[in-house]
Amino acid sequence: MSHSVPQHIAIILDGNGRWAAAKGMPRTYGHTMGAKNVETICRAAGEAGVKYLTVYAFSTENWGRPSAEVSAIMDLLRNYLKTCRKIAKKNNMRVKVIGDKSGLDEDIQHSIEDIEGFSRDFDGLTFQIALNYGGRDEIVRAVNRIISDREKGLLDSKAEITEEVISSYLDTAGIPDPDLLIRTSGEERLSNFLLWQNAYTEFYFTSVHWPDFNENELKAALDEYSLRNRRYGKTEAS
Ligand code: FPP
Repeated sequence: MSHSVPQHIAIILDGNGRWAAAKGMPRTYGHTMGAKNVETICRAAGEAGVKYLTVYAFSTENWGRPSAEVSAIMDLLRNYLKTCRKIAKKNNMRVKVIGDKSGLDEDIQHSIEDIEGFSRDFDGLTFQIALNYGGRDEIVRAVNRIISDREKGLLDSKAEITEEVISSYLDTAGIPDPDLLIRTSGEERLSNFLLWQNAYTEFYFTSVHWPDFNENELKAALDEYSLRNRRYGKTEAS
């Protein structure tokens, strides 16, 4: 059955910098307001019946930004993760981080372990934050772990490598693929986000900058989604 509410929404939050520039403010102000908006949209998505929400907070390519901006974003994420216990508890939200955590500062890695452990059994929205994430990097890490597990005998060396095996080695193991991908701020690219998982996903693009993507904008995206006739390959989803 095709669902009118997507089970899993993935969001490429774009346009924080342009939003701030349009107001004559520094880019970091845009990131601060963008981070606030993440909280708003998590709550709204949960209330709308969405079960999984994944946001692209920091890509493997984002390290190439000016170092002051990278530090400001990392500080925002650091602070967010610290206050996350309260938000998770209030919204009954399970928090997970995907991406190469080994490339993050140790205190951030520690906060991630803390919040993932704390919120593990919350059964409202599952909120996945993509941090130091790249879709190709995720696939490369998965393949290397498959090889290493085979060498160690943890994975049957004669068994066929199937789509299910690969999926189970991705950072998103156990999480259903996104039904809807939203990208804000007018760009219409995937930018290395969930390459494997977005194989059949509906894409929704809007020119609205991320800090302005409010509950009404989310509702517009959900309305558009519910109107689309979902097709898998040649057969109608049923
Ligand atoms: C998007 O706008 C900004 C980012 C992808 C990096 C920062 C993300 C956040 C602050 C969100 C924080 C997330 C959580 C989980 C709290 P941009 O800088 O690409 O804008 P531009 O395209 O206008 O330059």
